[in-house]
Amino acid sequence: MKRDIRTLRDLTRADMDHVLSLAATLKQERGEGRLRPLLAGKKLALLFQKPSLRTRATFDIGMTELGGSTLFLGPDEVQLGTRETPADCVRVLDRLVDIIAARTFAQEVVEELAEHGSVPVINALSDLYHPCQVLADLLTLKESKGRIEGCHVVFVGDGNNVAHSWLLAAEKLPLRFTLACPEGFEPDREILESAVAAGADVAVTHDPAAAVDGADAIYTDVWASMGQEAEAGDRQTAFAAFQVNRELVARASDDVVVMHCLPAHRGEEITDEVIEGPHSVVFDQAENRLHAQKALMVWCLSGD
Ligand code: CP
Ligand code: NVA
Repeated sequence: MKRDIRTLRDLTRADMDHVLSLAATLKQERGEGRLRPLLAGKKLALLFQKPSLRTRATFDIGMTELGGSTLFLGPDEVQLGTRETPADCVRVLDRLVDIIAARTFAQEVVEELAEHGSVPVINALSDLYHPCQVLADLLTLKESKGRIEGCHVVFVGDGNNVAHSWLLAAEKLPLRFTLACPEGFEPDREILESAVAAGADVAVTHDPAAAVDGADAIYTDVWASMGQEAEAGDRQTAFAAFQVNRELVARASDDVVVMHCLPAHRGEEITDEVIEGPHSVVFDQAENRLHAQKALMVWCLSGD
């Protein structure tokens, strides 16, 4: 059976451990100047409905480093769902490429691509999930804290796609996840309930100061995600008390790490001082997208 990554539910705990371990190995080897052509001759299509820096660059460079090649198809070319259905689109692409990474608005588009395509489809961000980001974040957490197990990750901000993927990670891994969000910006109820039903150590609160007490990692993201631009003004008001700033960081452990998936709106969800400060690991997270997605593509295509 082909291996899609529609959400982190497509990975078992053992799969996640394997991908993270391979990512760490590939990172170390790259640092020593060694690149293994594990996907020699393979072709990746990047099918994107939304803008991107990190995801596009790391998938493209990652596939090149693994010995393959990449085709980028942006929103203007494909007009997914308007010019052509996702099902028809993938039935063409799967005759041409070996693997697809898709960045979409609706999660249903990722699901449709995976259902109708014969090659693996990786979710490169949808309105609902961002699995590649959280895999890279888990690698960053392991590097910076020395462990994932038992870490308390406190996400201060919107109950969005990144937060949803953290909830799914908490279903699989023995970590604690708390979301501190304004009222009305809670995560999707079904995703939260599913995490709770799976026995995950997760909580939602509206008090960021109390939430970060003793946190191992404070995470934040933009207050208005791609597709929510029209709500940005209202959201600035609603989220004003949820900024990750010096005062908030001071309430956490001395060795807390501060995480952000980027792009950041400096001065809104996070201050310049914190993003440039000693606790910040945001650029390690960005680099780790490369290593995590290389490992993920290898896993999808070869299973090792
Ligand atoms: N973090 C992230 O996915 O960045 P891009 O939107 O630039 O790809
Ligand atoms: N929540 C953000 C993440 C960007 C990487 C968005 O969807 O725009």
